[in-house]
Amino acid sequence: MCFDDLPERVWLMAKMADVMSERVMPVEIRFLIEAAASAPSADNSQPWCFTWDKHMLEVRAQGRAGSFPVDYHPSLLAYGAVSENLTQALSALGLGMQDWYIGPPDVEGRFAYGPVSSAAVPVPTARPWLERHTSRQRFDSSKHLPDALLNELGRLTQSRCTCRVFTKPEQISKIALLVKQAARIRFRTQELHMGLAGSLRFGSQPEDYREGLNVNTLALPPGGRLLLKLISDWRRMQLFNRFGLYKALAAIEASTLAESTALVAIMGPISPVDALDAGRLLQRVWLQVSAGGYAGHPFYVLSDLAMRFADGKVSEALQMEAKKTVRQAAHFFGEERGVLHCLMRLGMPISDGEVSSRLSLEELTCKGIRSAQ
Ligand SMILES: Cc1cc2nc3c(=O)[nH]c(=O)nc-3n(C[C@H](O)[C@H](O)[C@H](O)COP(=O)(O)O)c2cc1C
Repeated sequence: MCFDDLPERVWLMAKMADVMSERVMPVEIRFLIEAAASAPSADNSQPWCFTWDKHMLEVRAQGRAGSFPVDYHPSLLAYGAVSENLTQALSALGLGMQDWYIGPPDVEGRFAYGPVSSAAVPVPTARPWLERHTSRQRFDSSKHLPDALLNELGRLTQSRCTCRVFTKPEQISKIALLVKQAARIRFRTQELHMGLAGSLRFGSQPEDYREGLNVNTLALPPGGRLLLKLISDWRRMQLFNRFGLYKALAAIEASTLAESTALVAIMGPISPVDALDAGRLLQRVWLQVSAGGYAGHPFYVLSDLAMRFADGKVSEALQMEAKKTVRQAAHFFGEERGVLHCLMRLGMPISDGEVSSRLSLEELTCKGIRSAQ
């Protein structure tokens, strides 16, 4: 439902019903929804909505206009991150996950749902999931993550998904090179370019940034904002690409990775169940790193190339280049461990960057499905 399309009186009634439902929603349900909704998603697409009927809390896959399909691999990773946050939030309330379903979206789009009884303990003030965010700033190369933390990360698993930690400079250089190759392809792919351009948010008010990629979080060099606006037009991007813009942009993307002192690769089989588990694992790594005072920054470009190549979605002109990169990446990360679900660089940012915001509770309520009022 779009409130803007309704006559004013109906709009006011709808608005009041939502305010009412917010008022009567138990504090523990708000705690759980806040935890779930703070999960990361590709381009901050937040492809989910919530219902609460006084007994059951449900989270459903919900595509947002112009954004990724709900069954897209990064959406499954994001559902995994939501599920991980929910699991940890339920545990913080002293509640278990008995009778909960966590898995790929069912026929009704539900990917996490279950009963919630009254909290066994007072609602905690600590909300570790709010400490996590994507840091795109440069990382201080003199501030290494402690070995104990890196070893712990390397041991984390979620069902069949595993976590590989890279700290050797030659490994990091090799990964940065693979990311550069993949990014060179990405910046010449119209569909991906248009998807990114459509998710960029340049607004001036806080409400302009509740979903989509807030450009202020991108750590752009001087003039970067203007350049992004210019190249949002694909024809202009194609023109600049004739002069090698895609190479320059790919080099910038890979350089932040090359400077890292630690990278994590989330590996596992490719099925939807495994993708959701990979998302849970990614989020667990990220929460653990944040709790230690460090930051994480995912790089999806290499995984995206491999998925698109496997699905036959890479254009004819870029096939050879894509095949070479995909083969080299599979060899480097180890095919026996499955596919690379996501990469993430870890470190200590040199400065605080702006943090993404989220849709309101009202916008996150599944429309057309009864919630408790
Ligand atoms: C599956 C997945 C892939 C992502 N890929 C990238 C990426 O390639 N580059 C990047 O800068 N951020 C990436 N992100 C981070 C999202 O853009 C970020 O989570 C979102 O904008 C919300 O911001 P927050 O993490 O600060 O809450 C990815 C996140 C997820 C869940």
